[in-house]
Amino acid sequence: MKLASLSALVLAAGKQHISAFSTHTIPKAVTRSFVSTAMASSDFDETRGGTYSIADQVARFAKAKEENNARYLDIESVYDGGDLSGKRVLVTGGNRGLGLAIVKELVAIGATAIVVCRSSSPELEKLVGKWNVYSGVDVTDDEAVRNVAKRVKGDGGALDVVINNAGYFYGPQELVKEDSLNFDEQLKQINICALGPLRVNNALVQSKALAAGAKLVTITSQAGSVEWRTTQNKGVGGDYGHHMSRAACNMAAVLFSEEVKDMGYSVLLLHPGFNKTEMTKKYEHIWEIEGAVDPSMGAKRVLYEVIKNGMDQTGMFINCEDGLRIPW
Ligand SMILES: NC(=O)c1ccc[n+]([C@@H]2O[C@H](COP(=O)([O-])OP(=O)(O)OC[C@H]3O[C@@H](n4cnc5c(N)ncnc54)[C@H](OP(=O)(O)O)[C@@H]3O)[C@@H](O)[C@H]2O)c1
Repeated sequence: MKLASLSALVLAAGKQHISAFSTHTIPKAVTRSFVSTAMASSDFDETRGGTYSIADQVARFAKAKEENNARYLDIESVYDGGDLSGKRVLVTGGNRGLGLAIVKELVAIGATAIVVCRSSSPELEKLVGKWNVYSGVDVTDDEAVRNVAKRVKGDGGALDVVINNAGYFYGPQELVKEDSLNFDEQLKQINICALGPLRVNNALVQSKALAAGAKLVTITSQAGSVEWRTTQNKGVGGDYGHHMSRAACNMAAVLFSEEVKDMGYSVLLLHPGFNKTEMTKKYEHIWEIEGAVDPSMGAKRVLYEVIKNGMDQTGMFINCEDGLRIPW
């Protein structure tokens, strides 16, 4: 069964709605009271004293509105990209969606954006300069990735920041009960979302393409939090390939952060918030309920965290909506 028809059934039944980016939304009051009851009964503070974000995305967004949280609701009121001015920043998947929005913002703040993508466009080449676009590069292709890594420093200098943004989310829902698991798609997502960033980071280290103190960022997803599955996929499960790929992505980044700490490179895992892109079009009906933003805002949220965090936060998994940590 396709996601759309599944969602319709779930909504009609008045049960939880699941989304990879979000929590169930229907009915909100029941969902929220369940979460707080569960917390109370176990005395478990999921915010770990206010340092961690909360799993229920509807409640998270509602809380931000209640508190009039400017950091969450109006990133422009706190964001200043100046610290990245003059820096060389590589972005994978910078040809569309959130990646393109990040690239546009980098250009606006005076950074050099280097785009690694599968397909370019005249608009993109005009935006960043065609010498800064490395097209025809699939992040699952070892050789193509290594070739870019070998060229990029000689072409313009070492990289200050790398943003592994390329990602993929298989469309249909995967459920055991419906016999709809797609193992080829699961492997594809793991290859793109988990091995892709590791492949890029590895190739850049081998090629000595990184500047001293470089930041290696991966745009991961809250979907990679195992702890949050029992809230966000409560009683339903599903989306096996995508969510497993992000858990594996997170594991790779933490191992990598430990390995390159003594080289002076910091490694960050950023959940970019809920962005209105092609990837989340299937969740359009919950965009407004769950605080989805235009990718231009998502890009500022991401760059705000890139600037703010460094070696002291290496290996951390951070929610760009509120700047708080996400549990594994
Ligand atoms: N949007 C959200 O709310 C949200 C939430 C959590 C996490 N994320 C993550 O944020 C990142 C950007 O998402 P988005 O919403 O902008 O998605 P999107 O609109 O679907 O764009 C995905 C980007 O990844 C590229 N890509 C996919 N497979 C690739 C491959 N094998 N090799 C190279 N590039 C590849 C795409 O390039 P092509 O044009 O060649 O396909 C495109 O540039 C992804 O990693 C996603 O998982 C997004």
